[in-house]
Amino acid sequence: MTILDVIAKKRDGKELNKEEIDFFISKYTNNEIEDYQAAALIMAIYINGMTYREIKDLTIAMAHSGDILDLSALGKNVVDKHSTGGVGDKVTIILSPLIASLGIPVAKMSGRGLGYTGGTADKMEAIPGYRTEIPENEFINNVKKIGISLITQTRNLAPADKKIYALRDTIACTESIPLIASSIMSKKIASGANKIVLDVTCGLGAFMKNINDAKELSKTMIEIGKLAKRETICVITNMNQPLGYAVGNSLEVIEAINFLKGEIMPDDVKDVVLELGAYMVKLAGKGDNIEENKKTLLENIKNGKAYNKFLELVQNQGGNIEYIKNTEKFEKARYIRNVASNKEGFVQEINAEDIGKLSGKLGAGRKNKNDKIDLSVGLVLNKKIGDFVRKGDKLATIYANSEKLAEEAEKDLLKIYVLGKEKTTEKTILDIIK
Ligand code: URA
Repeated sequence: MTILDVIAKKRDGKELNKEEIDFFISKYTNNEIEDYQAAALIMAIYINGMTYREIKDLTIAMAHSGDILDLSALGKNVVDKHSTGGVGDKVTIILSPLIASLGIPVAKMSGRGLGYTGGTADKMEAIPGYRTEIPENEFINNVKKIGISLITQTRNLAPADKKIYALRDTIACTESIPLIASSIMSKKIASGANKIVLDVTCGLGAFMKNINDAKELSKTMIEIGKLAKRETICVITNMNQPLGYAVGNSLEVIEAINFLKGEIMPDDVKDVVLELGAYMVKLAGKGDNIEENKKTLLENIKNGKAYNKFLELVQNQGGNIEYIKNTEKFEKARYIRNVASNKEGFVQEINAEDIGKLSGKLGAGRKNKNDKIDLSVGLVLNKKIGDFVRKGDKLATIYANSEKLAEEAEKDLLKIYVLGKEKTTEKTILDIIK
């Protein structure tokens, strides 16, 4: 078999068999297939799609292209969550200690961001001293010792996905259901979970722009989960506007800390945390009633157990907990600029993708994988969709390390906020697919 045979078969709309998929993944991972040939095959998959069986074989081949973490020492049910990506998403930072505070082991590997926002691992590094890169045995021992560890993905986790993901980005093939589904599920399988809750974001700031595509992606991942014997539940959540108020690495960590302290819990963040959390509790075998599970989760915020677990996590991984106790200690951007509205009306749109790009321009994300993220910059919204705004009211605060960028961001922000006469509302949880 040659790569040309495989490319031609997919180009002609035929179904690839397991051997052909395994051949492509193993040779490409070992640099024995050129990027341009892989690009041709990826484009053929993008155009012609794949059957569930092909996607499952692709997923398993990608998962096995590197190390498979063995988490069986942590118990029968190891639950993980993953989001298909969004703007202002600090859910993992809140949910991980919350779930661990219920005695459910959390062994969480999170990605770094590529694009306009940082990933969870980048955000955690805003806490001085916090180590996201630790050896695998330390990671598992941490979970055994305190019930939780949150680190970045180890270098050899699904390396085929890393190569294909980077390639897709350069050939306009990011928004493909078979490719997104196999990318996500391969990482989840490689990171050792056997129960998976997926946050499938939908809207202006998500890969899936409409609910039908979000449902199709969910069904595909659930189907792969079944074929790979990993029980999977998808929660489709709204990503038209950013989640919560803060966008930017340390700003999001501060919002997450305030949430864990029970001080400020934005409604949309709360809805997503409780919905995903309730299904994680169910899959862990700790309660079948979703509404009861939500109450239990909320109780552990109110009684401080989730916050204490977060302190324990940070301390155990070398982070300075004085920053958690007093978030004023986080390094501030040099230019902090309040943006006042120049008109009146109800906020009707705050395009999440545009906000993401704006925070990227301020330096909160990376264009290339070796770029350095500026952890202190970003923005904190003051108004969200449905809020009434008078002329002069504060829309948001910009955090920048350059005066020029702060000025530009103010102009962009005034365009991004769309105001109108009618009050519109956004539903946060759009559907649950099991
Ligand atoms: N998240 C991933 O890990 N992969 C994708 O392809 C899209 C979102």
